[in-house]
Amino acid sequence: MSLRVDTENLPVLKNDLIIRAARGEETERAPVWVMRQAGRYLPEFLEVRKHHSFFECCKTPEIACELTLQPIRRFKGLLDAAIIFCDILVVPEAMGMTIEMNPAPSLPNPIRTPEDLERLPERIDVNKKLGYVFEAVNLTRHKLNGEVPLIGFCGAPWTLMAYMVEGGGSKTYQKAKEWLYRWPEASRTLLTRVADVCVDLLVGQVLAGAQVSCRISFCDGQAKLKKSLKKQLLQVFDSWASELPPALYQEMALPPCQYIAKQVRAKLQALGHPGVPMTLFAKGANASLDVLASEAGYDVLGLDSSITPAQARKLVGHKVALQGNADPMLLYGGQDAIKAEVKKMCDGFLAGGGGWIANLGHGVTPQVQVDDFRCFLESVHKYSRRNPEK
Ligand code: CP3
Repeated sequence: MSLRVDTENLPVLKNDLIIRAARGEETERAPVWVMRQAGRYLPEFLEVRKHHSFFECCKTPEIACELTLQPIRRFKGLLDAAIIFCDILVVPEAMGMTIEMNPAPSLPNPIRTPEDLERLPERIDVNKKLGYVFEAVNLTRHKLNGEVPLIGFCGAPWTLMAYMVEGGGSKTYQKAKEWLYRWPEASRTLLTRVADVCVDLLVGQVLAGAQVSCRISFCDGQAKLKKSLKKQLLQVFDSWASELPPALYQEMALPPCQYIAKQVRAKLQALGHPGVPMTLFAKGANASLDVLASEAGYDVLGLDSSITPAQARKLVGHKVALQGNADPMLLYGGQDAIKAEVKKMCDGFLAGGGGWIANLGHGVTPQVQVDDFRCFLESVHKYSRRNPEK
C-alpha cells in the first residue's frame, strides 16, 4: 500500500525555539505549547466535531491536519509547536481492540487474563494500520509552512496497558495493577508488544515529516541537510505513571519507555537520520525524576503541577530539559491569577537554568475560555525572557 506522503520539498523551519530548548539550551524566551491545545475549548474544534466522530477526525488526514492547525492559526505567533491531532488509543486499536469514545474512552473487550494475549498480534504492519497518522503528519508539515515544529506522539506502554486491561479509565487501576503483581511476565509480554508498535509509530511519524531520501543524499551538504531534518519532536505520554509506587513504576513501566527511546534512536540512525529530541511525560512520577534524568534516555522530562520548578531541577540536574508545569485549573482563576502564577513559574524555571519548555502540567480542559488561554500564552512570552531589556 502506498501512503500519501510527500517528503520532498518540505518547508524550511522558521521557529526552532522548542528544538533548542529540548536540547538543553537556555533560550532567549521559553518556547510554549499546551497539551490538548487542539481540543474542545476551541469553538472551531467543536464545529468540526459536530460533523465527524472523534476517530473519524483522527483517521482522516485532512481533518486531523485542520484540527492541528486550528490553535496555531488562532494564536498566531504565540505557540511554538503544533502537536499532531490523534489519540494514544490508536495503538490498541491498531492491535485489533475496539475503542469507543462515549465521550470517555471505552474498550468493550478488554484483555482480562494472560490467555487473552493470544488475541493481540505479535507484530503489525504499521503502514497499513496507522498509515493515516503518517499521512496526517506529512500533510500538516506541508501546511504548517515551517511556522513551528510538529510534535509526534504515542502513549507509553503502561498507560496503554492500563486502558487495555481496565477497558477504559479507572479510579483505582485495580485490574491493571493486579496484572503487574500477579502476572509480571505476562505483563512484560504485553508491555513489549505495545512498545514495539509505539516504536514503529514514532519512527513513521518522524519519517513522514522528514526527508526519507536522506539516505542517498547525505554525501553533499550533510550539515545543511541535518539541520533541515531537525524539525520535529516526539513525546511519549505516560499519563498514569503516578498510579504506581516508585519501585513498581521503575521496575515495570519505565523499561518499555527506555526501550522505545533506544529503538527509535537506533532505527532512525540506521536510516541515516540525525534523530529528533524526545520527551517523556511520566505524569506525576516525581519520586523517580532523578532516575528518569539519568536512565530513561529522553532529552526532555514533562512535569505535572505537583512539583516546583526548583525541586524538579534539583532532582534532574542539567542532564535533561524540563517541560511544564502550570496547574490546568489555573486557567479558570481569572487573568490576574494567570499572570501572577505564570510569572512565578517562569521565575522558578529560569532560576534553575537549563532548557525549559513552558506548558501546563496536564491537558487544557474543555470549559477554558479562549481569552484566558491566550492570556496564559502571552504571559509566558512576557515573563520568560532571559535578560529582558529594562
Ligand atoms: O494535545 C493535542 O492537542 C493533541 C491531541 C491529543 C488528544 N489526545 C486528542 C483528544 C493527544 C496528545 C491526546 C493524548 C491522550 N489521549 C492521552 C495522554 C495525555 C493525557 O491527557 O493524559 C490520554 C490519556 C488519552 C486518552 C483519551 N482520549 C481520553 C482520556 C479522552 C477523553 C477525555 C478527555 O480528556 O477528553 C480522549 C479523547 C480526546 N483525545 C479528545 C481529544 C481532543 C476529546 C474527545 C472529543 O473531541 O470528544
